[in-house]
Amino acid sequence: MIPIKSERDLRIMRQACAIAATVLDRLCQEVREGVSTWDIDQAAKRFMAEYSCRSACYKYRAGGLRYPNYICVSVNDEVIHGIGRSDRILRRGDIVSMDVCVIYKGFVGDNTKTVAVGECSPETARLIDFTARSLEAGIDAARAGNKVGDISAAVQRVVESGGYGIVRDFTGHGVGRGLHEDPAVPNYGRAGTGPLLRSGMTLAIEPMTTAGRSGDIIFGDDGWTVLTSDGKPSCHIEHTVLVRGADLPAEILTVPLDWRNGETVEDMRL
Ligand code: MF3
Ligand code: CO
Repeated sequence: MIPIKSERDLRIMRQACAIAATVLDRLCQEVREGVSTWDIDQAAKRFMAEYSCRSACYKYRAGGLRYPNYICVSVNDEVIHGIGRSDRILRRGDIVSMDVCVIYKGFVGDNTKTVAVGECSPETARLIDFTARSLEAGIDAARAGNKVGDISAAVQRVVESGGYGIVRDFTGHGVGRGLHEDPAVPNYGRAGTGPLLRSGMTLAIEPMTTAGRSGDIIFGDDGWTVLTSDGKPSCHIEHTVLVRGADLPAEILTVPLDWRNGETVEDMRL
């Protein structure tokens, strides 16, 4: 069963997503040479307290483990679910993906960005660029009357046109009262297949890509961190979106507040 959000649900979803995006935007400002991934996680903890939300990752259970940190910070060949550590110091040319998932007034906002520390190589910048474009294509395909497979095929087409790999072991997902709701939103598939999209569905679309063609992954020793099997870089970009009509692409809900000018969720026009 795929939940359809009511107007009331959507008002809170917009706030939760704006907070998730604002925390992520502010964390991007913290990324610089010499900062540890633990520092990034601690900054996330502080920002979440400021916006009166909780982390959906903290103590998240999977496979008998509890996730220990507030966000996922994954560097270079780490694909997803990296755990910030004080001895993991960011260096110029690294790429860092930060996955920020918050719960606010009972609803989840989920988003991820991958950013370079200083500047990365042109090859890695191209991977990030194609991943961002694949997400845009997925969002454009997320229309009422289309199927989930239309999103998947749109993402896959862009990623593979760049010569990159798609991580198939993890997918995007419905998001709302729960972090992971139906449907699964794979980053590969056939157009015209899968569950029907309807107006009022909220989805986390999140291409996970690899510089190598295979998209194959391995697990790290901590039991959480997912890495590329070939040691090459990986990229992850995610938005929470709202499916509207057939005539419009999905609306991106994870848009940051104008936090530099002190905007808060109470100021949002809903
Ligand atoms: N955004 C991630 C997801 O959609 C959040 C993972 S939380 C963790 O699955 F605890 F598993 F890290
Ligand atoms: Co997600």
